[in-house]
Amino acid sequence: MQTDSSFTFVLFGGTGDLSMRKILPALFEAHRAGGMLADSGKIVAVARHVADRATYIDWVNEHVKPHVSKNGVDETAWASFLDRIEFVKIDLGNPEDFTLLRDALSGRPGIRVFYLATGPSLFVPICHALASVGLNENSRIVLEKPLGYDLKSSNAINDAVGEIFAEEQIYRIDHYLGKEPVQNLLALRFGNVLFEPLWRREWVESIQITIAEELGVEARGDFYDNTGALRDMVQNHLLQLLSIVAMEPPHSMDSDSVRDEKLRVLRALKPIDPRDIGKVAVRGQYHAGGIRGSAVPAYATEPGVKPDSTTETFVALKVEIENWRWAGVPFFLRTGKRLADRVAEIVVNFRAVPHSALGASALRGGANRLVIRLQPNETIRLYCLAKQPGEGMNLASVHLDLAFDRFFREGQMEAYQRLLLDVINGRLALFVRRDEQEAAWRWVEPILNEWATSNKPPKPYAAGTWGPAAASAMLAQHGTCWLEEEN
Ligand code: BG6
Repeated sequence: MQTDSSFTFVLFGGTGDLSMRKILPALFEAHRAGGMLADSGKIVAVARHVADRATYIDWVNEHVKPHVSKNGVDETAWASFLDRIEFVKIDLGNPEDFTLLRDALSGRPGIRVFYLATGPSLFVPICHALASVGLNENSRIVLEKPLGYDLKSSNAINDAVGEIFAEEQIYRIDHYLGKEPVQNLLALRFGNVLFEPLWRREWVESIQITIAEELGVEARGDFYDNTGALRDMVQNHLLQLLSIVAMEPPHSMDSDSVRDEKLRVLRALKPIDPRDIGKVAVRGQYHAGGIRGSAVPAYATEPGVKPDSTTETFVALKVEIENWRWAGVPFFLRTGKRLADRVAEIVVNFRAVPHSALGASALRGGANRLVIRLQPNETIRLYCLAKQPGEGMNLASVHLDLAFDRFFREGQMEAYQRLLLDVINGRLALFVRRDEQEAAWRWVEPILNEWATSNKPPKPYAAGTWGPAAASAMLAQHGTCWLEEEN
């Protein structure tokens, strides 16, 4: 991917956790790979508590370098990467400081990107301050999730930002959309003739989407306790995955064709009746337990978490899509912290054959299943029945395995690297459009409201398990179970 488009990448929250772990390492990777970033492109870090560029570079050396490469850093590339970095000290509480930024950016060629790696409460003040010095022209703005706390607060942010930046200047990040396997899902569905004819209610019995984490809330107890798994993972990552799994073939891969189709899915989600929430939604919170042989504390004792917190660290949902392709097919979504394994996968369970000439074993559900593993190792596994060797016609489950690292040894890109390059190059397809975001909030809101007003606490689960038993019971009612297998 060669580029000659010059840019200035302005990073607000330049000393934050996200800059340290994701954004600067991703920009370094793009720089190291060569040819992805224009030579003249610069990164302008903005922070309040740092005295000058030299101090910021010390911080980058100390905090960012350990995150850039597991296999040792290419020192020459690192040194030339640091040459791209400039620094402007700005106190965000002091809008006059933005004249310093305007002066630092004046006369530069190419596009300006403002990346707001800050809390959402700063999005609107930063946008106003940028506009006050005319920096909203010829610029793109990147907004990190969470964008708001509910539909109302997300609308308030979008309205305010929308007065300053046009929709095509706004890049709302959902880093799951930048993951290679998620891209591959589009390739699998729309680049092959094999799957699409079966990808519908006539042949699909149910679909599961799991994003399970072993990690707890780490140093983010305070943020997480005010957020919970529904806002942190379902409203964005899981509903985005769902919309890619369920969308109609887009007319092209341009940004609006893909986003239009995703939006149609989000708008077709069957609204949840608050009276049914007990049947279609399970929320849980982890208690003390063990992960890979180490004891881990209960959520309620994590730093920053209220001891009597009722915030959910686990969610399982049954979702339906009201359209011709998917009517009646349950989509089971699940995510949680401190679960038994770190895995993100999509499982498509196909129906049993309508009539079996081969005996009852061919009639069992789950015989044909497609498992798309997004992480930790990208694989696609297609389960079929085959005849067991020997006398008689006995069927056994076998699978075809596709491990992507066997075919593609190089060129894998981290999600943030892909997304940042897309921003610099003006490609919007992998960013969430405002209407998609609104549709997602609108759909989760009755669940949020019901959980906020009911006095039922989340169901407990021991850290290191697969969540509350109620999540399994919900699937059992549909004659199925979560796929939890070793790879
Ligand atoms: C983030 C959530 O959006 O995604 C985190 O805020 C979560 O709580 C993370 O840990 C998971 O991302 P990944 O790429 O590690 O699966």
